[in-house]
Amino acid sequence: MRSRPHDYELLDLGTAGHAESLSDAVVRGLTSERKSLPCHLFYDERGSRLFERITQLDEYYPTRADEEILRDRAREIVAATGPPIELVELGSGSSTKTAPLVDAILELQETLDYRPIDVSRAALEWGADSLLPDRPELRVRAVCGDYEDGLARLGPTTRRRLVLWLGSSIGNLTRPDAAAFLRRARRSLAPGDAFLIGIDLRKDRAVLEAAYDDAEGVTAEFNKNLLHRLRDELGAHVDPDAFVHRAVYDVEDGTVRMFLESLRDQIVRIESLGLEVPFTAGERVHTEDSTKYSLDEIARLAEDSGTTLERTWLDGEARFSESLFRRG
Ligand SMILES: C[S@@+](CC[C@H](N)C(=O)[O-])C[C@H]1O[C@@H](n2cnc3c(N)ncnc32)[C@H](O)[C@@H]1O
Repeated sequence: MRSRPHDYELLDLGTAGHAESLSDAVVRGLTSERKSLPCHLFYDERGSRLFERITQLDEYYPTRADEEILRDRAREIVAATGPPIELVELGSGSSTKTAPLVDAILELQETLDYRPIDVSRAALEWGADSLLPDRPELRVRAVCGDYEDGLARLGPTTRRRLVLWLGSSIGNLTRPDAAAFLRRARRSLAPGDAFLIGIDLRKDRAVLEAAYDDAEGVTAEFNKNLLHRLRDELGAHVDPDAFVHRAVYDVEDGTVRMFLESLRDQIVRIESLGLEVPFTAGERVHTEDSTKYSLDEIARLAEDSGTTLERTWLDGEARFSESLFRRG
C-alpha cells in the first residue's frame, strides 16, 4: 500500500487509446493467412506477473545486463542528459530498473516528476508502490495506455525530458518501424530532450533461444497467456495445452520470433465474435518479435529516426546496451 497516495496520479485511457483491443486483434490476426497476435496483449495482470518471473530466470540475461548498466552508470547517464530532468518511461513495467536513475537525478535536483506509461495498470501500481515510500521528493504521474497516447498527453514542462525505453522493448518492432516510432515520438519532445533506450545486441543463437525458451517453461506460459485471455475474456473454446511455445532465432535478420504452434488439427470457436478459427497441425500464430542490434545498427537507428546518438553504454560482457539519443 502506498504511503503517500497524494503523490500518485493515474490517468487510465481505458479503451480510448490506440492499442488494439483483444477482440479487434483476434478478429484481424486470427483470420489472416499468416496468423498473428500483437505482443502488447501479453500484459494483463497474470501476464505482467509472468514477465516479472521471466526477469528472474537464469537464462534471461537481458534484465541482469540492463540492470547492471543502469546501476553502475546512472550518474553518468544523468550528467550526460543534463538536469533538471523530468523522467518519462515507456513500458515501465514494475519500474524496478528505474530506481538508480531516480536516485541519481535526485542527487542533483530537489524534486522529480516521474511519468510512467504502460498498458498494464497492475504493473504501474507495483512501480509506484516500490518507488514512492522512500522518496518524498518524487511524484509519480502514470498513464495506463499505449506508448503514443501517453506521450501525446505529456503537456508542457520547463525541465528537460529523459524518455526511458528499457528492457529491449524496442526490439518488438522491426528496425524500420522502430525508427518511424522514434520519429513520431520526437514530436512530443522539445529540442534537447533525450531518449535512453535499452537495446539487446546480436549474439549466439543458443544463448538467445534459451533466453526465450527457458527450461522451467515460464516463457511458454507467458506466451500461452494469450490463449488464457482468449478463453477467459472472449469465451473461446480453446485448450492452451493443444498449443506449444516456439522461439526461433533468425540469424540473418537478427530477430527472435515467438509463436504458438498448434499440436493438432483443431477449430477454435469464439462465439462472442462469431468466429471459427481452423488450425492444421504444426500451424503457427506469430506472437512476438525481439529484434537484436549490432552497434552499427544502433547508429543507423539514430540516423533513420532523425536523432543524434550521443553515447552507448554496455554491460561487462557486452551483451546489452543503453544508448542516449538526443532530439535535435
Ligand atoms: C518487456 S516488458 C519491460 C518492462 C520493464 N521496462 C523492464 O525493462 O523490465 C514490456 C512492458 O511494456 C508494456 N507495453 C507493451 N506494449 C506496450 C504499448 N504498446 N504501450 C504501452 N505499454 C506497453 C508492457 O505492459 C510491459 O510492462
